[in-house]
Amino acid sequence: MKKITSIDLFAGVGGMRISLQRVLNRLHLKDECKLYSEINSYSRQTYDLNFPQTPLIEDIKSVKKNEISYKIPDHDILLAGFPCQPFSRAGISKRKNLNRSHGFDDKDQGDLFFNILDILKAKKPKAFILENVQNLKTYQNGKILDEMIKKLSKYYYVPKPQVLDAQDFGLAQRRKRIFIVGFLNFNGKFNFPEPTFKKTIIKDFLDFYPPRKYIISDLLWNSHQKRRIRNKIAGKGFGFRLSYPTDKATVTISARYYKDGSECLLYRGVGKNPRRLTPREVFRLQGFPESFKFKVSDLQAYKQAGNAVPINVVEKVCLNVVNYLNQSKKYQKKVA
Ligand SMILES: C[S@@+](CC[C@H](N)C(=O)[O-])C[C@H]1O[C@@H](n2cnc3c(N)ncnc32)[C@H](O)[C@@H]1O
Repeated sequence: MKKITSIDLFAGVGGMRISLQRVLNRLHLKDECKLYSEINSYSRQTYDLNFPQTPLIEDIKSVKKNEISYKIPDHDILLAGFPCQPFSRAGISKRKNLNRSHGFDDKDQGDLFFNILDILKAKKPKAFILENVQNLKTYQNGKILDEMIKKLSKYYYVPKPQVLDAQDFGLAQRRKRIFIVGFLNFNGKFNFPEPTFKKTIIKDFLDFYPPRKYIISDLLWNSHQKRRIRNKIAGKGFGFRLSYPTDKATVTISARYYKDGSECLLYRGVGKNPRRLTPREVFRLQGFPESFKFKVSDLQAYKQAGNAVPINVVEKVCLNVVNYLNQSKKYQKKVA
């Protein structure tokens, strides 16, 4: 049985890994993840519960350029859903308010792209799949994305990155993400997956009997409603958003959902207080299977689910990437 090896950088709780694993299983290919890197201890707790005994490097920045050759194992596919905060709208405005740099200039997270680039240069895996927020496409008028592609293209065939929306791939959540893929060998034009447009509604992802603790209190519900009136008078945004179980999709559920869930409160009927999604429901809206385990607090579980990739989308991207690697080698030529 042919084997495909991978490394899972900025792994979170392993959304990209689950996606690739599903594809390899379906294609009867053996799957081996040789390393994961995740700096957050709570995320690692969940990752280890689902993927025990995977070799780990906590902080990818701890690997110096000259150490990559022996600290990072050889692999076929590099997966990296790298941190989006330096490029996301919310992250940029938060950094501006704090007088901090954003984008590549954010020395904490913005330059992590260069760590990925160094690993690609040194290890030359056959392919890579990177994921980030769609704002990366327009951030600084697309200059940063162009720069990334230019650097990657020195060594890889990099087709035009594509923004894909989870709600077009059978998940009842609006979540647009940009995908950047690359191949060491050019083997004809790569096509990103077409949407499946599988029809779903929010209700398909909800618990039958959600615990009552997720219903918001009278105090919070009243304050939400008052804030909405104040915002309306001041001509400001919504304050909170009510979603109906029959709606096609929720808004993007972010890692901040744990705060008060105001971006997505579920309607429960006339005169009833709405409720928050449960952590399991958020994982479901990201395409995680029921068998996925987590034993962290609700706060951490919301953060982990909100930070994750939409699995249905990544799975389709992985399928096209693996098929591209496996297709006839007739046209294959080295890019660099
Ligand atoms: C967008 S999330 C990743 C989602 C994930 N790839 C998935 O498949 O669902 C980015 C992750 O990068 C982690 N991270 C940030 N800086 C890191 C670093 N220096 N080394 C390793 N992980 C890091 C964060 O803790 C966070 O979990």
